[in-house]
Amino acid sequence: RNYKISVIPGDGIGKEVMPEGVRVLERAAGLYGFTLDQTWHDFANCDYYARHGQMMPDDWKAQIGDPHAIFFGAVGWPDTVPDHISLWQSILQFRREYDQYINLRPVRLMPGVPCPLAGREPGDIDFWVVRENTEGEYSSVGGKMFPGTPREIVMQETVMTRHGTERVLRYAFDLARTRERRHVTSATKSNGIAISMPWWDERVEEMAAHYPDVTHDKYHIDILCAQFVMNPDRFDVVVASNLFGDILSDLGPACTGTIGVAPSANINPERTTPSLFEPVHGSAPDIAGKGIANPIGQIWSAAMMLEHLGEPDAAAAIMRAVETVLAEPGLRTRDLKGSADTEQCGRAVAEALS
Ligand code: NAI
Ligand code: MG
Repeated sequence: RNYKISVIPGDGIGKEVMPEGVRVLERAAGLYGFTLDQTWHDFANCDYYARHGQMMPDDWKAQIGDPHAIFFGAVGWPDTVPDHISLWQSILQFRREYDQYINLRPVRLMPGVPCPLAGREPGDIDFWVVRENTEGEYSSVGGKMFPGTPREIVMQETVMTRHGTERVLRYAFDLARTRERRHVTSATKSNGIAISMPWWDERVEEMAAHYPDVTHDKYHIDILCAQFVMNPDRFDVVVASNLFGDILSDLGPACTGTIGVAPSANINPERTTPSLFEPVHGSAPDIAGKGIANPIGQIWSAAMMLEHLGEPDAAAAIMRAVETVLAEPGLRTRDLKGSADTEQCGRAVAEALS
């Protein structure tokens, strides 16, 4: 088994945590009998922008070619490039051009990570947030009239398609089927958003009818946010539109204290295009260059990538190694009250693998 991987470190700590993600991948490859054919790309970063006036070359798609996956660090350097440009011209291009319509994030309590919710132990909270990643509230349909006057009007429409909605729901129900609890929770707001959200609810019911072995329920997004904080133990797979999913996929990891170590996947489940795996965090300009960034988000993203590539044993082994390292203050980084630097932490995970 050989996997072609595009490696794009990006900016700031992206460049520091990426080598640790790759170190762990290479160790896993050696132990589990597959090989990695890496191509590192020096675009989608703000230094590239300084040289070329854009974040990526015009032919970036041709340069990336047809890898099995893209392994991404973090992008953004607000002192030199405004965030809406650096992100829109890089990571958001990938999501849209590659039709990565699933954004998947684990919410899991980990050892060594202080949980802001009282009385929970690792194992108590373990669920997935499945966010629709290509349509919904984040459309470009809308406009302004009479700007700067008292008659000013601004509109932005939500665009939901049957195709786009059904495919994200199908993914969520399929994912639930692989889990012990087999339960899907849908985020809605049909009491207030009275056209698109009741329609979303109907699609959920329709899809659920094809999965008699999976239970489901729904919450309005406001109370769902409260439930994430009060009763996160009750969730298994949570599926949501683009905006609601965006909010839940930050809130979920925040409730388990893991936002700094959390991974995410932007997936095209049909595999007609490459999927992209990246930590949740950004380029952290405040700590960049010091060698103290926590590499666990990048390493956990590597595990998600291997799962997607069809190497579940290697992925599970990486997660066991991550848990071993997180439990040990001398091996984890300072943001988790440890004493290791980025490289020491990454090496520790690689060693714990074997
Ligand atoms: P951030 O995630 O980069 O940093 C937020 C805080 O968390 C900072 O105090 C940082 O030091 C800390 N932190 C983040 N990751 C850490 C790690 N691995 N180890 C230890 N501490 C860590 O978010 P911020 O500051 O809002 O954004 C900085 C830049 O990153 C901006 O340009 C933003 O647009 C970009 N960004 C990019 C993302 C991406 O590439 N997908 C996602 C989020 C932000
Ligand atoms: Mg977000």
